[in-house]
Amino acid sequence: MSNRPEPLVTFTGVSLGYGDFTVLRDLDLEVLPGQVVAMMGGSGSGKTTLLRAVTGQLLAQAGSITVFGQDIASLHGEALRETRQRMGVLFQSGALFTDLDVFENVAFPLREHTCISEQQILERVLDKLQAVGLRHAAHLRISEISGGMARRVALARAIVLEPELILYDEPFAGLDPISLGITAQLIRNMTDQLGCATILITHDVTESFAIADHVYLIGQGKLLAHGSPAELSAAQDEYLQQFLQGRPDGPIGFHYPLTPAFERWFAARRGAA
Ligand SMILES: Nc1ncnc2c1ncn2[C@@H]1O[C@H](COP(=O)(O)OP(=O)(O)O)[C@@H](O)[C@H]1O
Ligand SMILES: [Mg+2]
Repeated sequence: MSNRPEPLVTFTGVSLGYGDFTVLRDLDLEVLPGQVVAMMGGSGSGKTTLLRAVTGQLLAQAGSITVFGQDIASLHGEALRETRQRMGVLFQSGALFTDLDVFENVAFPLREHTCISEQQILERVLDKLQAVGLRHAAHLRISEISGGMARRVALARAIVLEPELILYDEPFAGLDPISLGITAQLIRNMTDQLGCATILITHDVTESFAIADHVYLIGQGKLLAHGSPAELSAAQDEYLQQFLQGRPDGPIGFHYPLTPAFERWFAARRGAA
């Protein structure tokens, strides 16, 4: 008997892509309860693609993806909806509703997915706003808050249904250094307070290494390395060190990869010329 908890997410030999274009091949990864797992990689490496695979928006081209013990490809309709309700997602474009105030933005998922009373909505929303330090901003319009505050409102909205798994796509993008540190710490605290697991998609090495239990690095169409932040910092791999140190010279390519879609476009263009 082992005490190892059941993973919330498991990828086994997974390939992901769009049509005949494969973005990532042969991925094996897992997310355990209580963990903050960072998925890192350069721009265009397939991070958002990975997130879409966990939520079942994108089905694997090969291999299997298990979420909460269920094969995500086998879920449809109501079962898929129920599984998605157990996840909180902060999308890259994490847009708030600009015609609603802060409170109503956070209340939105509760009104959409539960039938709890107005009193309960008030308590739940203020509780989540408290957790992100914005209880006293509940009445403000979205146009009245800063970019860093907006990110925290989006965070409160992502956790208001108290999900078992939270996925953040580039939560640090465009934040000033202080908001960045606060947001990272909030992500860690949320995970610990809710007792959930977190998938943190980012290219920000400093912030994610400060809060992650485990880091996966993707690039060149595959999983390049994974381990604890300390293990990865100590590793000798050249690509890994280039990524971690953000050096412009090294094995990471500058050119967008050649795809069948480009070749078709080019053939058609050439034919037309
Ligand atoms: N809906 C889509 N259809 C076709 N190709 C896509 C689509 N979304 C992303 N891609 C391609 O997949 C690759 C990975 O994209 P993405 O997952 O968004 O990268 P990242 O989030 O790491 O920047 C890119 O080459 C991108 O052009
Ligand atoms: Mg992305």
